[in-house]
Amino acid sequence: MNPIRVGLIGLGTVGAGTFHVLQRNQAEIRGRAGRGIEIAMVAARNEARAAAYRAVVGDAIPVVGDAAALVDNPDIDIVVELIGGIEPARSLVLKAIANGKHVVTANKALLALHGSEIFAAAREQGVTVAFEAAVAGGIPIIKALREGLTANRIEWIAGIINGTTNFILSEMRGKGLDFATVLKEAQRLGYAEADPTFDIEGVDAAHKLTLMSAIAFGVPVQFDRAHVEGISSLQATDIKYAEQLGYRIKLLGITRRRENGIELRVHPTLIPATRLIANVEGAMNAVVVQADAVGTTLYYGKGAGAEPTASAVVADLVDVTRLHTADPDHRVPHLAFQPDAMSDTPILEMAEVHTAFYLRLVVADQPGVLSRITTILAEHDISIDAVLQRESAEGERQTDLIILTHDTVEGRMNEALAKMQGLPTVLAPIVKLRKEELA
Ligand code: HSE
Repeated sequence: MNPIRVGLIGLGTVGAGTFHVLQRNQAEIRGRAGRGIEIAMVAARNEARAAAYRAVVGDAIPVVGDAAALVDNPDIDIVVELIGGIEPARSLVLKAIANGKHVVTANKALLALHGSEIFAAAREQGVTVAFEAAVAGGIPIIKALREGLTANRIEWIAGIINGTTNFILSEMRGKGLDFATVLKEAQRLGYAEADPTFDIEGVDAAHKLTLMSAIAFGVPVQFDRAHVEGISSLQATDIKYAEQLGYRIKLLGITRRRENGIELRVHPTLIPATRLIANVEGAMNAVVVQADAVGTTLYYGKGAGAEPTASAVVADLVDVTRLHTADPDHRVPHLAFQPDAMSDTPILEMAEVHTAFYLRLVVADQPGVLSRITTILAEHDISIDAVLQRESAEGERQTDLIILTHDTVEGRMNEALAKMQGLPTVLAPIVKLRKEELA
């Protein structure tokens, strides 16, 4: 059988990685896919990259500057979109679909924001949009959630799905440094981008979490409903106190099924230091899935980089190639559930989320302070799990008071916090972090 013909848009890190993996492992890939997978056309706006590519492959494969020519090329079966961002990626993907081509993309932002439109267009045209590389790079978590765990009712997912922030948190904890210092170092080493906003503010993780949540619970992708909180205001002091109490702080993406809806939230989270996921260090990613039949499973690996991400792109190419001639209704649905079996379960407001808390209060060191604070918690039916008070230095008139609570509803905690903050003996804004046992 003739090879399937791929049009590659974008010759950046992942595009080049995809080219190399396809070339190096072509015999195995052909054996698995049932036919060859051949890059037939490349679109790259960056002239230097295009020239470097031509130097390797010669003139046999056309390299165009305008991707519109690629998505309109009738000889292309699958378009691989690796340029990222919303436009022109969205228009190119929709055009490729309209032209009856399958699409493989690593673009989490595009699918988290415009997934409903793109998947609907693909269904109408009977083509596939595959996106394994969009979540946790080389970890086959989309495959696991959509196919491997298909027997299960998924209860929750918690993931370290941004390598940049995990690297920064590992360095802050390991070296006792503050956020700004470590961010600069991460930028120098190439772990963080010159504009690191999407990573450090949790946006990248929330894009990925939104996709996992949709697949796990059969709901539409709803990035606008996600709670997004990053690590830029996290203080080294809190990492240290958490450690004293037996916890590590990780930027987690958490999505959980509740009776009244679905939690969808990214924020720094205390987790017991003994959990496997608490020990995922540096730029690595990991995802824990809790499901009713299998129990807990953990997926670990590289969440970024040329070949780890290419591994996921090529896996999608093989999947699409295998199913290219199949009846579209017999392919694996984009979001795991058949379109008519999707659910309208709402995404919960943060005030409705159930979680435990870490609170750090700077308080006057005088009689009755602790009792007033614990009274407010008791009045809000919030149960204390642990308390730690820093021993004051000689002559010091204030101290840090750390409180860990049991699970409560976030709205109730916010009401209690407002009361505590109003006490004259609470001397600074209270630090509130969430804590999950992941049991
Ligand atoms: N910037 C991401 C990370 C990788 O740091 O994990 C691509 O999503």
